[in-house]
Amino acid sequence: MNGYFYDVATGLVERRVIAPLRQGLIFPLRREIVDVGAGTGANFRYFHPGTHVVAFEPDPSMARRARSKIAHSGARIELRIADDSGLETLPSESVDAVVMTLVLCTVDDPISTLRRAKRVLKPAGTLILIEHVRSPGTVGRFQDFIAPAWRRIASGCHLDRETVDAVGSVGFDVAGVATKRLPKFFPIQEIIYGRLPLTAKDGA
Ligand SMILES: C[S@@+](CC[C@H](N)C(=O)[O-])C[C@H]1O[C@@H](n2cnc3c(N)ncnc32)[C@H](O)[C@@H]1O
Repeated sequence: MNGYFYDVATGLVERRVIAPLRQGLIFPLRREIVDVGAGTGANFRYFHPGTHVVAFEPDPSMARRARSKIAHSGARIELRIADDSGLETLPSESVDAVVMTLVLCTVDDPISTLRRAKRVLKPAGTLILIEHVRSPGTVGRFQDFIAPAWRRIASGCHLDRETVDAVGSVGFDVAGVATKRLPKFFPIQEIIYGRLPLTAKDGA
């Protein structure tokens, strides 16, 4: 996707809704952080000075725009052109936080991405999540209906993912996950967000 177009298209919802969530969840993080699917680098300005961030982004146009934002961050950010399989290059239990913002809607296999994240997290590590999800009821059924067309026009984005279930099934504690409704930004209506600790290091 063209990085400039992405930033323009998402600008309004970014400023009004997503930016405050990023600030609240990302700024408190310290030490070693991974940003999976960094896109155009929307998270970069929120990484605390002194943190070390490895950011993975597979799309060169998105990554080009992200690279231009590194200089505005006080964090030491290494941007790698790779999808979530890049997590395999990091040692197990080496990271304090994995950040996934608006990316589990797009990856091919969310469970596999989440397992990769879990492996690199230290036992006290956390997953930072901001994702849009399938809504309940009539809206959800409408999302199911338009999901195939949406995937084509929105670079593989799935409108109908049950991300809380996926995250919980891999071994993250979803008790603290909160929901924000976006009544004006149809067809995406619900954003989930939170700071999720691991429930168990082994297993799922
Ligand atoms: C909707 S954008 C969100 C970008 C950014 N995280 C944000 O919060 O604005 C989703 C990004 O995920 C990237 N992506 C798609 N598949 C991926 C994968 N398997 N692993 C990592 N990133 C992926 C896309 O290239 C795109 O830049």
